[in-house]
Amino acid sequence: MTVREQLKTDLKAAMDKDPAATSKWLVKHTYAGYKALVGYRYAHWFFDRGHKTIAELISARAKRRTGVEIHPAAKIGNAMFIDHGTGIVIGETAEIGENCVLYQGVTLGGTGKDTGKRHPTLGDNVMVSAGAKVLGPLNIGTGSKIGAGSVVLKNVPPYCTVVGVPGRIVKQDGQRISDMDQILLPDPIMEEFKRLNGRLYELEKKLGIHTCRYSLTVDEVNELVEEAEKDEKIEK
Ligand SMILES: CC(C)(COP(=O)(O)OP(=O)(O)OC[C@H]1O[C@@H](n2cnc3c(N)ncnc32)[C@H](O)[C@@H]1OP(=O)(O)O)[C@@H](O)C(=O)NCCC(=O)NCCS
Repeated sequence: MTVREQLKTDLKAAMDKDPAATSKWLVKHTYAGYKALVGYRYAHWFFDRGHKTIAELISARAKRRTGVEIHPAAKIGNAMFIDHGTGIVIGETAEIGENCVLYQGVTLGGTGKDTGKRHPTLGDNVMVSAGAKVLGPLNIGTGSKIGAGSVVLKNVPPYCTVVGVPGRIVKQDGQRISDMDQILLPDPIMEEFKRLNGRLYELEKKLGIHTCRYSLTVDEVNELVEEAEKDEKIEK
């Protein structure tokens, strides 16, 4: 895709995502976020072809004019929308998928501890809200939302909502997960053993095999666990 074609997708994204955007002309001439993307797309084109000084100069000019600092080496997918713009910083090794939204004050930065790949990778359709900081070479899964003012320091799976400092997942696939019982946590390995035992019991019953005395139903396993717990208490 040429730079012009990419910018067309960015313009369309602004029109689609911002209810306040009334005309393409206005977006082109008044939106700092769109102007910053114009600067970035050309700077990245030069950077990719080895013209690093020209790229840095374009980038510095765009930063002066818009308050948005995007390193020309960063990789940004099509249909990007930057709302308001001011105060956004996107680091050198950051990668952003298609159809993402960033609001003012977002930092996609490093923690200062990593070398090489030190900035985040955002999947497609990710939204990073106003003032949020996503730090380190971590992954933000497709379709995830980062709440305003959050500081994200760990990987985020797809379709999650993350809020707070440090960021924690409060929703996954549209389901709230903050209500999870933090004391009686589920034991997935025990659950799987119980399920397998139940299947083994059913299979043996169908085949008329009664030789394996360890083949127990889920209820029988639960009874044995309860008995063992009682015995333990009596011994104490
Ligand atoms: C995170 C956000 C995108 C909402 O995502 P969502 O998936 O719809 O999540 P919900 O609104 O259902 O909120 C889930 C929980 O997180 C809490 N929450 C939401 N945003 C939060 C934030 N920024 N900080 C702390 N907690 C937040 C909610 O209160 C809710 O808590 P509860 O379950 O105890 O009631 C939204 O709240 C947000 O931060 N938007 C900011 C957009 C922006 O930057 N606008 C600037 C325009 S200029």
